[in-house]
Amino acid sequence: MSLITWKSHGRFERNSLLLLIGIVIVVAIGGLVEITPLFYLESTIEKVDGIRPYTPLELAGRDVYIREGCYLCHSQMIRPLRDEVERYGHYSLAAESMYDHPFQWGSKRTGPDLARVGGKYSDGWQVQHLTDPRSVVPESVMPPYAFLAKKDLDYSDIEAKLRAMKAVGVPYTADEIANAKADLETQAGSSAAEAAGLQKRYGGKTINRDFDGNPAQVTDMDALVAYLQVLGTMVDFRTYQADAPKNQR
Ligand code: HEC
Repeated sequence: MSLITWKSHGRFERNSLLLLIGIVIVVAIGGLVEITPLFYLESTIEKVDGIRPYTPLELAGRDVYIREGCYLCHSQMIRPLRDEVERYGHYSLAAESMYDHPFQWGSKRTGPDLARVGGKYSDGWQVQHLTDPRSVVPESVMPPYAFLAKKDLDYSDIEAKLRAMKAVGVPYTADEIANAKADLETQAGSSAAEAAGLQKRYGGKTINRDFDGNPAQVTDMDALVAYLQVLGTMVDFRTYQADAPKNQR
């Protein structure tokens, strides 16, 4: 029996084209076994309380983050390893990036992971750090982004941005899209009373304030800091409990 098997194997070893075809078939079977079940699962993402789509201002800030290439030095994915969890906090959940298109997990950490940087520092610190990183962290190699505080945020296309996100699966409502511009302006610095609509749409925890310390202008800095301050803050980890694996219930 084993002799026959070895004999036919010889054919593969002597004929490279046959070997190539054999490899393609075997790899395709492996791929199908891994990929096909995903089409039959309703979701591979566990539902988690608190996760919401970004507000228009945060979404605009996320675009600034991508435009400036922050992801080239910063990851947004805390791995479930002890050193990472002790340094950055609870490991990242799939649901925390379910509304990120494209996701910002990153692949390089010249600087620290930013998945939970929201609320770690004041807005003032963030603005100072982005303006001149070495003024707050002397040994920093991060480049300065002072121009963001002078640049008017271009949000003329914010409704279209929300619609584009909706097209790829982010559940923005018609109400949220219709009010995108107003919500953006409200979040960037109006009073708490005016923020009622914003909080009705995006939840009571939504922060509205003048993020960059310059109430006269809505700048790229406002948007970027609003985005940084929400990172990792949507899930309340004091009450969060991961689903126990099925066989343990
Ligand atoms: C060339 C690499 C590089 C780029 C590009 C970069 N950073 Fe950094 N960043 C760093 C380094 C290194 C640190 C750690 C030292 C420090 O705090 O400045 C850091 C620190 C930070 C921190 C503080 C994190 C913490 O937990 O202390 C924030 C927030 C931050 N960066 C945001 C940004 C944003 C937003 C951008 C894009 C506008 C950006 N960075 C671009 C390298 C980079």
